[in-house]
Amino acid sequence: MKNIHPVFDKIVSREAKEIRLKQKAKVIWFTGLSGSGKTTVSSALEKKLFEMGYFTQLLDGDNIRSGINNNLTFSEEDRTENIRRIAEMAKLIMNCGVIVLCAFISPTDDIRNLAKRIIGEDDFIEVFIDTPLEVCEKRDVKGLYEKARKGLIKNFTGVSAPFENPVDADVIIDTSEVPLAQSVEKVFEKILEQISYPEK
Ligand code: ADX
Repeated sequence: MKNIHPVFDKIVSREAKEIRLKQKAKVIWFTGLSGSGKTTVSSALEKKLFEMGYFTQLLDGDNIRSGINNNLTFSEEDRTENIRRIAEMAKLIMNCGVIVLCAFISPTDDIRNLAKRIIGEDDFIEVFIDTPLEVCEKRDVKGLYEKARKGLIKNFTGVSAPFENPVDADVIIDTSEVPLAQSVEKVFEKILEQISYPEK
């Protein structure tokens, strides 16, 4: 940090931006296996929020990994760096007053705690998409589980790399049990108070 002088105090404040947007900014962090339904639930929630007049931004695994993080692998070290950069981006966007939805496997407690630490505990709402591995593997939307079982992809989460279930998620959803609209509603109910700007 030598010779670096951040000037965050000179920037128009987050609160001023939240007032302009008539909302409270938060990060809603979706974690779960590949194919568990993170993208489906988070994008349906984003659509609902946006249609209601909220200002939102969705950050999603495959998109971020094909752009800003296209130099990272799926080693533990690179997954940590992936999530570190994403959490920093989410925080910047949140500080613009925007509600940020993040959908990343983020497979370990250490990785999720890193994100929570960067974003700040009070602004971090964790949603665990707890769809069983068997279901994700049966869906195999991208054909990746089949490749992983054949050994064609290494370090594949749930097959040859770990996924630790979060212990303190704010919302837990099994998309093989709950229909999409109900899953979206469950997260929406949890966040509504936290994203609503108090009317004066
Ligand atoms: S994370 O572990 O670093 O949080 P991230 O959410 O960015 O992962 O990316 C996951 C997506 O990358 C998966 O949905 C899948 O499409 C793809 N992918 C490619 N290789 C792997 C792998 N070895 N493990 C998990 N996902 C992989």
